Amino acid sequence: MSHLVAPSMLASDFANLERDVKMVNESEADWFHLDVMDGVFVPNISFGIPVISAMKRHAEKPFDVHLMIVQPERYIKEFKNAGADILTVHYEASTHLHRTIQAIKSEGMQAGVAINPHTPVGVLDDIIEDVDLVCVMSVNPGFGGQKFIEKTYSKVEKLHNIIESRNASAKIEVDGGVTTENAKKLLDCGAEVLVAGSFVFSADNPPQTVSDLKNCHLVSA
Ligand code: DX5
Ligand code: ZN
Repeated sequence: MSHLVAPSMLASDFANLERDVKMVNESEADWFHLDVMDGVFVPNISFGIPVISAMKRHAEKPFDVHLMIVQPERYIKEFKNAGADILTVHYEASTHLHRTIQAIKSEGMQAGVAINPHTPVGVLDDIIEDVDLVCVMSVNPGFGGQKFIEKTYSKVEKLHNIIESRNASAKIEVDGGVTTENAKKLLDCGAEVLVAGSFVFSADNPPQTVSDLKNCHLVSA
């Protein structure tokens, strides 16, 4: 299966959200990536449940919700009701990660776990069979438009090996600083979902940029 592209709405124009949601609908994008920040787990506050519900009214593709909040288990039902299809919590913010993953799945959503740049992939050893998605942060979470951390390639490779050796089905998502410069190499290392915020929304032609990310595996280096 070809890889997926998930534009991050954090980089969209919040004063023109409906327009930007429709742009993603009409593009080759697969998912919407929605970054929820609480000002505690990360040093920034983005948007929350009411804004996600509002976007859902116009969206025609799955919602990949990335929670950068402490104690994410408090709001699982609320994000389901707001329209989340995939709900990702941070390893570093979840004391009882196994329970939280089961709770997400029992609400009928796919469950994801995100890891910060300093968190080794090996900590997922005993949970990898239970998750549908691992979001490997390739910047420190909290802001769009940051520089891609090169170490991500080897983390993705390592994680890919763990997933293969267990015969697990978790998809690897890479989030932060993704562009057509690093996309192909990330896919070669085992990534299956590319999140891109500023690269898409700051482009002169956002739908074309989504298409470039979607077809980057076809371009020879
Ligand atoms: C960062 C967020 C990312 C961010 C990516 O905390 O999780 O999803 O929106 O933005 P870019 O692609 O601009 O790095
Ligand atoms: Zn994100």
